[in-house]
Amino acid sequence: MLASLLIPLLFSAPAAYAALNVTGSTCTVTPLPSTGTTDPDDTPQILQAFTQCGKNGKIILAEGLFHIGQIMRTTEFSNVDIEIHGTLKWSSDIQYWLRSSISVTYAGRSTAWLLGGTDIRLRGFGKALFDGNGQLWYDQNRNQGNQNGRPISLTLWNARNVLVDGITWRQSQFWHTFVAHSENVTMTNLDMNSTSNSQWSTVNTDGVDTWNSKDVVIANWTVTCGDVSRKTPPTIFSFWSSFLFPYPLNTNPHPQDCISMKGNSTNISVSNVSCHESGCACIGSLGSQASQPDYVENVSFNNISCTHSSNAAWIKTYSGTGRVRNITFANFQLDNVNQPVYITPCIYTGQGCDTSRLPIEDVRWVNITGTSRYNVAGGIHCSASNPCKNLTMENVNIKPMSGGTTKWLCSNIQNQASSGIPCTESCPANWPQQLSGNR
Ligand SMILES: *[C@@H]1O[C@H](CO)[C@@H](O)[C@H](O)[C@H]1NC(C)=O
Ligand SMILES: *[C@@H]1O[C@H](CO)[C@@H](O)[C@H](O)[C@H]1NC(C)=O
Ligand SMILES: *[C@@H]1O[C@H](CO)[C@@H](O)[C@H](O)[C@H]1NC(C)=O
Ligand SMILES: *[C@@H]1O[C@H](CO)[C@@H](O)[C@H](O)[C@H]1NC(C)=O
Ligand SMILES: *[C@@H]1O[C@H](CO)[C@@H](O)[C@H](O)[C@H]1NC(C)=O
Ligand SMILES: *[C@@H]1O[C@H](CO)[C@@H](O)[C@H](O)[C@H]1NC(C)=O
Ligand SMILES: *[C@@H]1O[C@H](CO)[C@@H](O)[C@H](O)[C@H]1NC(C)=O
Ligand SMILES: *[C@@H]1O[C@H](CO)[C@@H](O)[C@H](O)[C@H]1NC(C)=O
Ligand SMILES: *[C@@H]1O[C@H](CO)[C@@H](O)[C@H](O)[C@H]1NC(C)=O
Ligand SMILES: *[C@@H]1O[C@H](CO)[C@@H](O)[C@H](O)[C@H]1NC(C)=O
Ligand SMILES: *[C@@H]1O[C@H](CO)[C@@H](O)[C@H](O)[C@H]1NC(C)=O
Ligand SMILES: *[C@@H]1O[C@H](CO)[C@@H](O)[C@H](O)[C@H]1NC(C)=O
Repeated sequence: MLASLLIPLLFSAPAAYAALNVTGSTCTVTPLPSTGTTDPDDTPQILQAFTQCGKNGKIILAEGLFHIGQIMRTTEFSNVDIEIHGTLKWSSDIQYWLRSSISVTYAGRSTAWLLGGTDIRLRGFGKALFDGNGQLWYDQNRNQGNQNGRPISLTLWNARNVLVDGITWRQSQFWHTFVAHSENVTMTNLDMNSTSNSQWSTVNTDGVDTWNSKDVVIANWTVTCGDVSRKTPPTIFSFWSSFLFPYPLNTNPHPQDCISMKGNSTNISVSNVSCHESGCACIGSLGSQASQPDYVENVSFNNISCTHSSNAAWIKTYSGTGRVRNITFANFQLDNVNQPVYITPCIYTGQGCDTSRLPIEDVRWVNITGTSRYNVAGGIHCSASNPCKNLTMENVNIKPMSGGTTKWLCSNIQNQASSGIPCTESCPANWPQQLSGNR
């Protein structure tokens, strides 16, 4: 008893403590002990390690709890191994982050950690935990959409030849990850779960968004975006409530995407991903600015499960310029997906649904099975002035979860009859992304 009390006391004595140990080109950071009521800030030592060992070196964050009280702008790495064994917990000082988060230029978004350079291996060995303290963000954000300054957890920026492996995220502040202006990025074995425990939804805790990036491999992820705005009723009521409200309603107009490709993403491979409470696999939004074309080409999703999600294998564009070409959605398992397949040329605005000139072509769905929440498996409205070309479906079998026949709504698909899409009727312009019942 006495010994077990003494040991922690000895270890927490500040005098014996060195938070950063530099040995040759290896920097090892250990967390500062928590003393008193205010959390320490481990960011200075971590940044110091990144500076000292970020080129041809190794950075080790030891086991334990690191408090991250400041933004990290680490964009000069070259040939570095970053090994994280402990927990990184971002501080609760929302006002600080709103003021200080680093701009990523895309749509006014910003980040808490901007990481870039070449030949970077960031490994977490299944032990690293990134805790965004997100509940505070969900509660203060009160179901609003994109809040300026609300930070993305980790952004790869001007990064080349990168491996990110074995990291767990919980309660991310905003998007878990963003890959921008980067190439040859492999992100494997990641586990993300942001689920609100209050009445407020997480809102836009996307798993990953890519933008202006190429040659990206995403594999072996489990992602929960927490995209359910009404919580499941307490157990005592759930038997009766299940008759009144069969499934939690989703009232969030901008549901979060699990894996999403934004403008200028090419050669992206996504496989073995399990998405929950999210938009699952998504291309877009693209073409929001007529002056800036957005190209998304050569994207393949393979072996993806979409559970209790808003959509599954879908494409959303504004009526701007650019192109979507050569997209494969293969081997999807769906469970209770609101509207699995969806294409719109006029997302969120309803403007230019039939005048959009942003082409969508060579899109293939193959081996898609499982259940839709309602009786519509797909709503595809392509622009009348620029019909979708070469959309194909093979072995697609989606059944409404409460039985009945499946509807497929289709408009302006070139060679629709030979597409393999089992269209049953036309899809009106500005057809909603989320349905609230059978149609
Ligand atoms: C610093 O790290 C080296 C190599 O890992 C280790 O041998 C040494 O004991 C450490 N020094 C301190 C003070 O922790
Ligand atoms: C791509 O990045 C990986 C590290 O993830 C590296 O091993 C590989 O050599 C890079 N490929 C090229 C073509 O540079
Ligand atoms: C995510 O976390 C929530 C809350 O802890 C939990 O209910 C849910 O099962 C988790 N999701 C997965 C896929 O494990
Ligand atoms: C696509 O990306 C992968 C993974 O980075 C790479 O190995 C491959 O060479 C790229 N393909 C093309 C055509 O650039
Ligand atoms: C993905 O997970 C499977 C099964 O655990 C494993 O065999 C495979 O090596 C993993 N892939 C990568 C790229 O780590
Ligand atoms: C996907 O999972 C299978 C089965 O675990 C594994 O064999 C395969 O290597 C994984 N794919 C990737 C790209 O890791
Ligand atoms: C598909 O991915 C899951 C993980 O999400 C994995 O368990 C399964 O083995 C994979 N299947 C194949 C055929 O690769
Ligand atoms: C995408 O790439 C095109 C051409 O390479 C460029 O004109 C455009 O500005 C880029 N779009 C964005 C949003 O960066
Ligand atoms: C897509 O892949 C094809 C075939 O490999 C290639 O010719 C084309 O340049 C790629 N598109 C882009 C934008 O990289
Ligand atoms: C389509 O994209 C895949 C990668 O997903 C690529 O291998 C293939 O070459 C591309 N095909 C064409 C016609 O561009
Ligand atoms: C249709 O798209 C597929 C990719 O999904 C591609 O392989 C095929 O060549 C395209 N067919 C035509 C006629 O362009
Ligand atoms: C579709 O499923 C069949 C049967 O399991 C399989 O042989 C085929 O390779 C799958 N297609 C793709 C593109 O994965």
